[in-house]
Amino acid sequence: MKHFINLDDLSNKDLNQIIDNAIVLKKEHKLGQINNTLENKTLAMIFDKASTRTRVSFEAGMAQLGGHALFLSDRDIQIGRGEPTVDTAIVIGSMVDAIMMRVSSHDDIVTFSKNADVPIINALSDESHPCQLLADMMTYKERKGNIQDKTVAWIGDGNNMCHTYMQAASVFGFTLNIATPVGYEPEKSFIDKYQDCINLYTDATLACESADLVVTDVWASMGQEEEQVKRELAFSNFQVDKALMANANADASFMHCLPAHRGEEVSADVIDGKQSLVWNEAENRLHAQKALLLYLLN
Ligand code: CP
Ligand code: NVA
Repeated sequence: MKHFINLDDLSNKDLNQIIDNAIVLKKEHKLGQINNTLENKTLAMIFDKASTRTRVSFEAGMAQLGGHALFLSDRDIQIGRGEPTVDTAIVIGSMVDAIMMRVSSHDDIVTFSKNADVPIINALSDESHPCQLLADMMTYKERKGNIQDKTVAWIGDGNNMCHTYMQAASVFGFTLNIATPVGYEPEKSFIDKYQDCINLYTDATLACESADLVVTDVWASMGQEEEQVKRELAFSNFQVDKALMANANADASFMHCLPAHRGEEVSADVIDGKQSLVWNEAENRLHAQKALLLYLLN
């Protein structure tokens, strides 16, 4: 049985197969073709954090494939009242065909994978966000071609999205320049593991030089709201604006997993400008995850 807990759980070959299938599924969906491959299958979706894209794309994706998705917020299920994670995993795993989880603790996702008898999908943890990278890599392939040997600049926080870009650099074979303020670097275990494909900077301008793709994310992730003011100060030189983009290649693209804060991590003229791929990126969550579900469940 396969899980999707970290992007590099899967090989380059399997990830590219999923992305190629996602591109086909997208075309078929736009042509109105019906695909009931997941008829009678149920996906449980456990959330202890907010979501727009992840929830809508998984729920719509299951419906489009003839299956069903169950939205389970921690406010509604007993896990929020202290039922042990292991017990919850065993019970839900005995009733559904796959479980998608957006939870604060990455360890809870690993616990589910050891105790539930079905594929587990990480839909964002404190450590990583592999579903987003499937969509980002699909978007790059569709719009720009092969990302292998390209240079990607990550600007901002060394957070869960940054970690997943490090994993993507390793498995897709690109160079990742990471620019963060001092004290906001990625986790040391990630730096050690992915050191061969990353370069660390404290100067966003240097990180963007020769970049084919510039990526950023919010300065304060979910759960860090009380650090907002402190982070605004720390990250003030890390806004992706036109001046910063001018250091990247002339045909460089911009990506952001969304939700975005215009005027903080990105200027409005960049995210709403010609180099931005953010709307394709968001839409592709739907198609990439449908291909992922087919890969895990078929
Ligand atoms: N990018 C992303 O995961 O968006 P949501 O938080 O809206 O799901
Ligand atoms: N780093 C952000 C990503 C949101 C999709 C967070 O964890 O809140």
